[in-house]
Amino acid sequence: MNILLLGSGGREHALAWKMAASPLLTKLWCAPGNAGIAQEAECVALDITDHAAVIAFCKANGIDLVMVGPEAPLAAGIVDDLAAAGIKAFGPSKAASQLESSKGFTKDLCKAANIPTAAYERFRDADAAKAYIRNQGAPIVVKADGLAAGKGVVVAMTVAEAEAAIDMMLGGGFGAAGAEAVVEEFLEGEEASFFVLCDGDHALPLVAAQDHKRAFDGDQGPNTGGMGAYSPAPVMTDAMIARTMDEIITPTLRAMKAKGMPYKGVLFAGLMITKNGPKLIEYNARFGDPETQVLMMRMMSDLVPALQASVDGQLNNFDLRWYPEPALTVVMAAKGYPGDYAKGTLIEGLGEAGKVEGVEIFHAGTKSDGGKILANGGRVLNVTATGATVSEAQRRAYEAVDRIKWPEGFCRRDIGWQAIAREKQK
Ligand code: AMP
Ligand code: GLY
Repeated sequence: MNILLLGSGGREHALAWKMAASPLLTKLWCAPGNAGIAQEAECVALDITDHAAVIAFCKANGIDLVMVGPEAPLAAGIVDDLAAAGIKAFGPSKAASQLESSKGFTKDLCKAANIPTAAYERFRDADAAKAYIRNQGAPIVVKADGLAAGKGVVVAMTVAEAEAAIDMMLGGGFGAAGAEAVVEEFLEGEEASFFVLCDGDHALPLVAAQDHKRAFDGDQGPNTGGMGAYSPAPVMTDAMIARTMDEIITPTLRAMKAKGMPYKGVLFAGLMITKNGPKLIEYNARFGDPETQVLMMRMMSDLVPALQASVDGQLNNFDLRWYPEPALTVVMAAKGYPGDYAKGTLIEGLGEAGKVEGVEIFHAGTKSDGGKILANGGRVLNVTATGATVSEAQRRAYEAVDRIKWPEGFCRRDIGWQAIAREKQK
């Protein structure tokens, strides 16, 4: 099979690494890719917002499957356009990807299907939103309706903070993505990232992970795209997975099908495990980043047939096998991320770092320049390791991190702390 992967992050490097190991693969391309993905795939400088150009590339190169990594092409309808051109693509249609691209759509669907989620209201008028906030009190959560690159959420600890977030969003702070705001109840509990492969009718659960969204140790500092992750997620016991499937995932697939928008691809549920059970924080229509890096390390089965089964509606009775060992990934980011940061700084020592037992280094934002690896983004490297325990995976990952010479980078030193605290209690 010839496969084209779209994207350029650490998630895509992990997917490329896993697909490259498939006996079904003839050739893998990636657009646009990065310096790490180039070790697994031929990177092509295709503009993925130009769907006609992507279709022409697929036809010229006999592409059998397109794997879409990020959300933007999904929300732009690339899967619909490829399908119309007779090209199979993994991921939801434009209509179905509203589960990520419109928080209001998802909240309304949850209400109609009785799916547990935070209580909410949608607002276009700032005065009405503020009156609601004052009435509810803090803590309270304010979200931009549309895609805001993971930055459209303010968890406000005071009413004043929530009102300021309303002024910023409805005042145009996120452009069109913030023309409508969702104000919702603050949920208390432990978060988990839960993934299912879907084929329109059936859902196959993957292993769960936990992400660390805050920039600094101790879960302090601003929210980011994710500073590290590990799998399994101790809160996602078999019983909690069964409840999540029954109460959240299955009703969602049923509702999407009834709306004429059957959901195919991977559905990523951001969950809050509360004292009353799982509640949906948000859906994403794609794999998580950096969660995918740990998922791919733990996946024993071939990924490619699972992707095909999703596209072809064949997931019923499909099975995936997983390594029981935990995996953990540490994100190395450019100093300043998630704010302003420098690009083009030199990274050395990756060869030595990659020799640590159980370690794989996925590139998130790098480019190569005459044999040198340069930083080319905010999140730059994902130092990923497996181990007999989360503690061992963490020790290996940081041993590799310490071999990387990149003075302009930083990482958290406490990835996996919740799971390690549990291991120490045993
Ligand atoms: P989201 O982009 O919707 O995943 O939100 C980003 C982060 O904000 C989540 O990972 C949570 O940590 C937090 N968050 C979002 N919604 C809520 C909520 N209703 N209650 C508490 N925390 C939330
Ligand atoms: N790590 C969270 C996300 O991919 O949205």
